[in-house]
Amino acid sequence: KGTASGLRVPSPPMKGLILAGGSGRRLRPLTHTSAKQLVPIANKPILHYVVEDLVGVGVTDLGIIVGDTAAEIRDSVGDGSRWGATVTYIEQSAPLGLAHAVVEAGVFLGDDPFVMYLGDNMFEDSLEAVVEGFAEGGGVSARLLLSRVDDPSSFGVAELGDDGSISQLVEKPENPNSDLALVGVYLFGSAIHEAVRSIQPSARGELEITDAISWLLERGDTVEHHLLDGWWIDTGKKDPLLECNRLVLDDLTADVAGSVDAASVLEGTVRVEAGAEVVGCTLVGPVVVAAGARIEDSRVGPYVSVGADCTITDATVDHSVLMESSRVAGGAHLSDSVLGHHAEVSGGGSASLLLGDHSVVELGESTGGEGV
Ligand code: TTP
Repeated sequence: KGTASGLRVPSPPMKGLILAGGSGRRLRPLTHTSAKQLVPIANKPILHYVVEDLVGVGVTDLGIIVGDTAAEIRDSVGDGSRWGATVTYIEQSAPLGLAHAVVEAGVFLGDDPFVMYLGDNMFEDSLEAVVEGFAEGGGVSARLLLSRVDDPSSFGVAELGDDGSISQLVEKPENPNSDLALVGVYLFGSAIHEAVRSIQPSARGELEITDAISWLLERGDTVEHHLLDGWWIDTGKKDPLLECNRLVLDDLTADVAGSVDAASVLEGTVRVEAGAEVVGCTLVGPVVVAAGARIEDSRVGPYVSVGADCTITDATVDHSVLMESSRVAGGAHLSDSVLGHHAEVSGGGSASLLLGDHSVVELGESTGGEGV
């Protein structure tokens, strides 16, 4: 079987397991009410990039693990037909770890090989080279994706033996012997099911996927790896989320379909979608403005994603993601901020904020520095 790009699709066809449950503690208060996997990057939810990535390599039978934010995720992704995929939603009884998600997806997965993709992770490159040939030869229990990182002690790290294959996995090592971090895409054969059922919860009370893979390694199973070239971001915290927004906006194409008045100045790459309105502004690209947004007497950019129906009036915004229907007004200067749906910021100070849905913040002249 081939795809439009000529890629050989693995046989038997792989399923996709997207993890979009979890508790999102590191993005609170945003994640008290909304799913971190649905934060828009250049006005497209992270989860949609994930689905597109999988469909792009011929993986169209998708299971999505959902938790407290199930309804919102179903609304956003639907049945997958928009991408030519079929989506099965799997409610995880509690966010008890990545390996626990595999246990709960057992019926959906059956004995088929699958790609497990963390729903808040984004990659520069397609998965083509990662999935190529997996499960064809047989006998391989897992293929891990690795990336070199500057701070291995915050990741699950893979150590390689003399023959270049993975010798062991260490979770957040204090004195790392390797800078190869495990990133958010894993390929598994059916052997993983025995592994996830054989391990015990870790000190933090979760069934860890690294423990399940270590179990396979200890049994002598073959665990391959693939070293990533392009960038990879776990968007589960504010700064990486904003960095991801910058990286994606760097590839933006300019397109002004909405209305921009003669008094406005557009510099660099700016996309103003149909139905958006820009009046008396300077937009410094890359900037994307979604339908229904209205920006007036403001300076916006660089690196700003303005969501649908947002309003920015008499304000300055740079390096930020404004989710749907949020508002900035009254002389506020926002940098490095993420605003939840319907959040409101006003007043003449400057700040860097992470605001949950419907939050209201009034900045005084003296307000500054990091917000919540
Ligand atoms: P994490 O970001 O590692 O975990 P989390 O969502 O609990 O976040 P935090 O550490 O900030 O509290 O999870 C990676 C992805 O996997 C993310 O999309 C959430 C998802 N996930 C599940 O679906 N089920 C789970 O049990 C866990 C732990 C995560």
